[in-house]
Order: sequence, then structure tokens, then C-alpha cells
Amino acid sequence: MKISIIGAGNMGSAIACGLAGKEVFKGNITVSDASLPKLEELQKGLPGISICRGNVEACKCADVIILAVKPFMIKNVIEEIRDSLDCKRQIVVSIAAGIGLKALEEFFSGTDGRTPAIFHIIPNTAVKVGAGMSFITYSNADEEAKEKVLEIFGNLGETMVVDEKLLDAGMALSSCGIAYIFRYIRAAVEAGVELGFRPAEAQRIISQTMNGAVILLEKSGGHPEQEIDKVTTAGGLTIKGLNTMEESGFSAAVIKGIKASVKGN
Ligand SMILES: NC(=O)c1ccc[n+]([C@@H]2O[C@H](COP(=O)([O-])OP(=O)(O)OC[C@H]3O[C@@H](n4cnc5c(N)ncnc54)[C@H](OP(=O)(O)O)[C@@H]3O)[C@@H](O)[C@H]2O)c1
Repeated sequence: MKISIIGAGNMGSAIACGLAGKEVFKGNITVSDASLPKLEELQKGLPGISICRGNVEACKCADVIILAVKPFMIKNVIEEIRDSLDCKRQIVVSIAAGIGLKALEEFFSGTDGRTPAIFHIIPNTAVKVGAGMSFITYSNADEEAKEKVLEIFGNLGETMVVDEKLLDAGMALSSCGIAYIFRYIRAAVEAGVELGFRPAEAQRIISQTMNGAVILLEKSGGHPEQEIDKVTTAGGLTIKGLNTMEESGFSAAVIKGIKASVKGN
């Protein structure tokens, strides 16, 4: 399966990097961008990919075309490529936030009204290391198209097919959410440094603690509170720490922050 990625910015290059590391996609990734130096830099790190400055050229042999430009550029890029697409064969995936399926369909229904299978997918930056979370919606797509797209994004981490009305919530939890997790890590590292660890040591401790927590939760299949109960001795220090965090608004801040990153909230 040949994949072309339009846009070599943060997300386009993260997807290219995640896919280039998979045997099944070797030699099948092309990336196009307006900037040649950016493409050359990307190719230096990922010698197996092809680069191309023209979007139409990049789409030519692709089975799946991933649009990874800023949302305000999506309409222009679709208008540029739509007449050269084979709508029966080629699949288009847009990862632009806030541009829904209806708008994408409208941008495609050009002069002849032809529309390819369209996917609107919201991944997060962890696709770069194959540990992403991608929310998937689609229109005009048959089973074969869905399988192809699920194969691509499944190789980049977890996928979840959702109703389009949940896409913004998914983005808040995961695409924005990864920043909230990094902020927690940073805060905990700062505490560790104040308590006597070197920054690199503190970061290693917090990363491993976070990793361990996630694996424990996955393996036990339980609720986080059950795992919390196991480490909170009555009258002990953990509950004192938790209650102090809550006094400072920890849970409320997390919930409010996630809700604030959904447009209109
Ligand atoms: N960041 C996230 O976590 C996240 C998560 C989900 C979805 N998204 C979506 O991902 C998309 C890309 O975001 P990003 O952060 O990767 O943006 P970005 O870093 O700005 O990348 C976009 C790239 O596209 C290039 N470009 C602009 N016009 C082009 C054109 N006509 N043809 C080909 N390439 C062109 C840009 O070049 P110049 O810099 O030279 O303009 C830039 O290299 C956005 O729509 C965003 O909503 C992001």
C-alpha cells in the first residue's frame, strides 16, 4: 500500500516517522511539502522515504493520501489535488482539527462532483513512536478502504472509530491530553529535584512510575481508585499527599482543563 503525506510539519513528519519504522510500509511512503529544506531534513533522518515538492505529483501513485497541513490550508490543498485523483481507488485522510466530514466532502465536490473515500482522523504526536491514539471518522468509505486506513493508523498505535460528534472530545483527551501528561511529568520532576534528585534522575523515576501505573491498570483491568487504595495506608503519607493535591484543586483542574480544550466549552 502506497501512502503519501502532504505536509512535513509536526504531525506529517511524526506519521512518516512512525510508518517508516514498520517493515510493511518500507519504500512506500512519500512526503510532500512546500519547503524543500524541511523535506530534505526529514529524509536525512528517514532515508527510506521519498520526498516530493509537488502535491499532485505526490498523490499520483498513492493508495492513501494523508493531508497533514494546517486547517486553514486544507481547502486549498484539496482544490489543488482533487481533479487528479482517482476517486474510486484513492482514499483521502485529513487530520486537520475542526474541519469535519461535511466540509471535506464539500471541498472535494468540485466541478464533476466526484468524492473519494474520506476519513477525518485525529491522532496525537505519539504516532511518531508507534504509541499514538487516533480517533477515526469517515464518509463514503467501503470495508476495503476502512481496512486500509485502520492498518495504517493501527501501526501507529491505538485506534478508535467514533461518532463524529465525539472527535473534539477525543482530541481534548488525547491530542491535547498528551501535553497535560507532560505537564504532570514536569511538575513531578520539579518536586523530585527540590527533594534532592538530579533532573535526569527525577525524570527517569517519574517516567518509570507512570509507565508502571499504566501497565498495572491495563493488566488489572480495574479502576484507578482500586490501585490507589492499595497504596494508601490509613493515616499514612500517600493519602496526606493526595488530599493536599485535591485541596489545591488537582482533579478539578484536570477536568476543567480537558473540557476547556473542547471548542465552545
Ligand atoms: N499537533 C497535534 O497534536 C495535532 C493533532 C491532531 C491533528 N493535528 C492537525 O495536524 C495538522 C498539521 O499540524 P502540524 O502541527 O503538523 O502543522 P505544521 O507543523 O504547521 O505542518 C504543516 C506543514 O505543511 C506545510 N504546508 C503548508 N502549505 C502546504 C501546501 N500547500 N502543500 C504542502 N505542504 C504545505 C507547512 O509548511 P510551512 O511551515 O512552510 O507553511 C508545514 O510544514 C493540522 O491541521 C492540525 O490541526 C495536529
